[in-house]
Amino acid sequence: MSDTEIQRLTITKPDDWHLHLRDGEMLEGVIRYSARDFSRAIIMPNLVPPVVTTDDASAYRERIMASLPAGMEFSPLMTLYLTEDTDPADVEKGAESGLVTALKLYPAGATTNSQSGVRDFDKVQGVLEKMAETGLPLCVHGEVTDPSVDIFDREAVFIDRVLDPLRQRNPQLRVVMEHVTTRQGVEYARAGGDNLGATITTHHLIINRNAILAGGIRPHYYCLPVAKREEHRLALREAATSGDATFFLGTDSAPHTDPLKEQACGCAGIFTSINTMSCLAHVFEEEGALDQLEAFASLNGPVFYRMKANPEMMTLVKRDKPVGFPDRIQTGAGPVTVFDPMFPLCWEVAR
Ligand code: NCD
Ligand code: ZN
Repeated sequence: MSDTEIQRLTITKPDDWHLHLRDGEMLEGVIRYSARDFSRAIIMPNLVPPVVTTDDASAYRERIMASLPAGMEFSPLMTLYLTEDTDPADVEKGAESGLVTALKLYPAGATTNSQSGVRDFDKVQGVLEKMAETGLPLCVHGEVTDPSVDIFDREAVFIDRVLDPLRQRNPQLRVVMEHVTTRQGVEYARAGGDNLGATITTHHLIINRNAILAGGIRPHYYCLPVAKREEHRLALREAATSGDATFFLGTDSAPHTDPLKEQACGCAGIFTSINTMSCLAHVFEEEGALDQLEAFASLNGPVFYRMKANPEMMTLVKRDKPVGFPDRIQTGAGPVTVFDPMFPLCWEVAR
């Protein structure tokens, strides 16, 4: 590794508006990487069993804080997993106490641990009305689960069949389209007004579907929503680097152990929390938009979530040679492969 610094960028410390920390030994193995580079993160509730009630979220938050290495600071922003049995009164209690920052909607069967998700939207209308009233955002995994819809079309079809009708029925509801992966997602988010935001992941700015399928099947690039064609990656890059406040960072860092990824039916999820800021600096520089990195990673998210930007700053330094990241990290749950962007990373967070 070289010490020669060729560029430096200081931004407000980022937040991660979509993160899977898991539980137990995996949580203990990964939390330090999020806490190092992000002040806050929206914590996904798709544990087994899911985080459904305010009491579940409170207990999970305590486990997260107990796993945080001594001396590190980090604020987990808790979410509840919306089910057809979610009680509007419990949601109100969670929101009022400040413990619950958002609810997460998984259409049943759409992704990892989404079996308890929503099938019949009429059954959650009462909760949605309560959320619209209190301003609590709904984070949406936007893919239909209809087996007759091609997996590469599931986001675009979800917008037409589910998201748009849901927003028309609840115009005051504040919605985040999580991990948008298509040009259609970008266009719908951009046109949606102040009540609609969208997160974009690190990896969807970098890979298209060739990374998963061309020249051999590469399970460590498989995630949901699955990466799409190049034209969609370009639309995401344009959105993320545009400065448009609709779009903000949600890494969707989703660790699974290597044996669970590398099997006949491998799990969806890419672990990126460790090198996201290096990857993003590279992407934004490539797009001639380093001056927009702060908006995307640190400013637009807090505006949508009606929070203050972090008072701390982060400095990124570009070296004249690649900086080192491990190929995989070791956790008590097993090894976890680190996202390989397939280009050398020369940016690093100054520590
Ligand atoms: C996530 C996971 O593993 O929990 N996987 C993924 O590919 N992103 C679930 C999700 O966010 O869809
Ligand atoms: Zn996710």
